[in-house]
Amino acid sequence: MQRVLILAAELAFASYAAASVAGPVTSTDFPDPSIVIADGTYYAYATNGNGYNIQLATSTDSGSTWTVLAQDALPTVGSWATGNNGLTWAPDVIDRGDGTYVMYYAGESTSEGTHCVGAATATTPLGPFSPESSALACNATGGGAIDPSGFQDSDGTRYVAYKVDGNNLGGGGSCGNGNLEYSTPIMLQQVESDGVTPTGDAIQILDRSEYDGPLIEAPKIVLVNGVYALFFSSNCYNTNLYDVSYATASSVTGPYTKASSPLLVTGDDSLTAPGGMTPIPDGSFAVFHATTNSDPLTRPMYTAKLTWDGTVVSAA
Ligand SMILES: *[C@@H]1O[C@H](CO)[C@@H](O)[C@H](O)[C@H]1NC(C)=O
Repeated sequence: MQRVLILAAELAFASYAAASVAGPVTSTDFPDPSIVIADGTYYAYATNGNGYNIQLATSTDSGSTWTVLAQDALPTVGSWATGNNGLTWAPDVIDRGDGTYVMYYAGESTSEGTHCVGAATATTPLGPFSPESSALACNATGGGAIDPSGFQDSDGTRYVAYKVDGNNLGGGGSCGNGNLEYSTPIMLQQVESDGVTPTGDAIQILDRSEYDGPLIEAPKIVLVNGVYALFFSSNCYNTNLYDVSYATASSVTGPYTKASSPLLVTGDDSLTAPGGMTPIPDGSFAVFHATTNSDPLTRPMYTAKLTWDGTVVSAA
């Protein structure tokens, strides 16, 4: 009797977990995914692959099943960028609310010689997105700017969060920063209501701590029940230490307090190196990637339902 009860409990746990984290939901590499919902269709965007600068997938069943489309969401990367297809990374798309969608992405800057963050606009989430003529943020001395994402505060003010790519400066070791020589802060840049024009100086809202290894990256802010939650990944993407973490604050500018434990780590829900999570604005559903093959590195998309209890976020 006791044994039957334990089995029942394990089964209940397994099915509960399976109902929250699902995937892989793409059969191919679809790293650093982001999501926007429009007219009931879910749109996901990913780092370059399959010959496209920015990959695109859609779901018409609320994110259960996805189709990767044979088209490039960002056919041209902007006159400021080198156009190196393999260096177009980590898009994020927001609905500006006026019939325009804004894509943030990272590309290699011709003048800076590092990655910069750019923006592009389209009148449908399918694109094609048209790039702005200049980059939105660069930081060549810091190693470059990557992993941009949009956020709109409750008062309507818009921001772009991004990572200063300090590990790109190359001290060696894990992700080029194993000796922790360089900073990899998350910056917050206010932008005008158009979502693409920076206003004022970027401020630093998060930095590495001892649990983060060589870097933090992949920021995305959502506001849920008055809690500003800044999702990010720690450690090197090609190691099993890569994770999905978050920090919370009562103001978009912080100070942000890191959660006592990451949201997803290797081993959770049988995942390997989960990272790059982007929730939808209300925080209830998110896309992220995890590794299914190390060589060639293959990181298909997964999804998660998130639950919130104050400043504690769970994916189960
Ligand atoms: C560039 O990055 C460094 C961190 O490496 C940071 O301290 C600095 O504030 C950044 N500069 C700007 C203009 O954002």
